[in-house]
Order: sequence, then C-alpha cells, then structure tokens
Amino acid sequence: MRQKIVAGNWKMNKTLDQALQLAAEIKPMVMDEVDSRVNIILAPPAIYLSRLKDMIGSLPLAAQNCSAFLSGAYTGDLSAEMLKSVGAQYVIIGHSERREIFRETDQIVLDKIQQALKSALKVILCCGEPLSIREQGTHVDYVKKQLEQSLFKLEASNWEHIILAYEPIWAIGTGKTATSQQAQEMHASIRLMISENMGSSQSEGISILYGGSVKPDNAAELFACSDVDGGLIGGASLNARDFIAIAKSFQWS
Ligand code: PGA
Repeated sequence: MRQKIVAGNWKMNKTLDQALQLAAEIKPMVMDEVDSRVNIILAPPAIYLSRLKDMIGSLPLAAQNCSAFLSGAYTGDLSAEMLKSVGAQYVIIGHSERREIFRETDQIVLDKIQQALKSALKVILCCGEPLSIREQGTHVDYVKKQLEQSLFKLEASNWEHIILAYEPIWAIGTGKTATSQQAQEMHASIRLMISENMGSSQSEGISILYGGSVKPDNAAELFACSDVDGGLIGGASLNARDFIAIAKSFQWS
C-alpha cells in the first residue's frame, strides 16, 4: 500500500559508537516530532544492524545491499537471510553506487531482489539515469529499461513488497537536486509505465521515493509533488536534526 516514507541511507559512514549515537538521537525525535503516518526507515552499515535492532526496537531497519546468492562459498558476501536474521526488514537494491562502482548489472539486481523476497525482506529498488542520459533527453526510456529488467519481471504478488526510489545519479551527493518538476515528471512517468504493464491498482499502490541531495530546505517542495511519496536520504540522514526536519516536511491536507 502506498505510504509516506523517509529512509536514511547511511552508506559507508560512522563507527559503531557514532552509529549508536546517531540512532539514539533519531529515535526520540521520531517518536516526539514526526507524524505517525510517516514511515521512517534507517539503513545503517549491515555490521551494526543487530546492535541497532536491540537499541531502537520499533524503527524498521534496512540493509544497503544483499548477496545475489542464497548461501555458500561467496567470501565476504551477506545473504538476505542473514540480514533478516540480524534485524533487517528492508534491503536497498540497485543503488547507483552499486550499479556503477561495483558493476552490478540488471541481472544481478534482479537476482538480489529475488533473494530478498525469498527471505521476506522488503525491497527498496533504486533506479535513475546518469547526467549524459538526462542531457540527451532519454531519461524516461532509460528508467523504463531499468524497470523492465527488474520490477516488471516479478510476479504481481511480490509488488506489495517493493518500494521504488527514483534517484537521478547526477543529483546524488552532488548538492544538485532535481527540481520538483523534474522529480514529479519522472515519478508520474514511472506510474504510467506501471499502469500500462500491470494496471492502475499496482501503479497507484506503489510508493515511489525521490533521492538525490534531499535536504531540509528542499524536501517540502519535493514531497508536495503528487507522485512523490517521500525520500531516500543520503548525506542529510547522517545528521539527526536534518533527517528529522526532512521527515517533517510533508504537508497534510
Ligand atoms: P544524497 O544520497 O542524499 O547524499 O544525495 C542519496 C542516496 O544515494 O540515496
């Protein structure tokens, strides 16, 4: 079901003590200040999931990645089942940093989604175009291909376990946010693609987050777009006050 969501992707930041400190700051602010209709998800480095689960209890946790394999001789990899067993309820898959730096192909992204779903993890599936594609004007087709290779290959019954995150690569960590018009245009296009492929109940039911330099001063405008259901927040999620300010940026009618 479509929900308002603000997820903090801590990426490869914070030592254990710093991570515990950040979570200790965020938790009471979420309880006291954030509207209960907003779902907050924290995605710390996987190595801290277990400790954070014990500490923050009710706030859902996400892993930032999972293995494309079930189990076995894959040195250094973490399976979906392992992540679930230490407290993850969600996993981010297909982040552009994984696709670009770690060369994850569409097939790997799909395999990871399948593993996550098998282990009853919900998936935050990222898509988004690089700057060169945006400049050519073919960004909608580019994202469509990414979804054809991932989301549209899943059984309809799995869709309720998927959250999409549109993250234009040129806006990630650059301080350059998509304008609210650019975000709304892509989110509406994604909903149209879903509606054409799967019908309108699927397209209206899925939550689509925007990610890419979301900050306290631009979140309200982005979240006011009718097809933007929240944000996947990188840099600004490392500061409790900024993260909470973003989570408080929804307007309620
Ligand atoms: P950013 O990262 O907010 O630092 O741009 C977003 C993301 O990569 O999910």
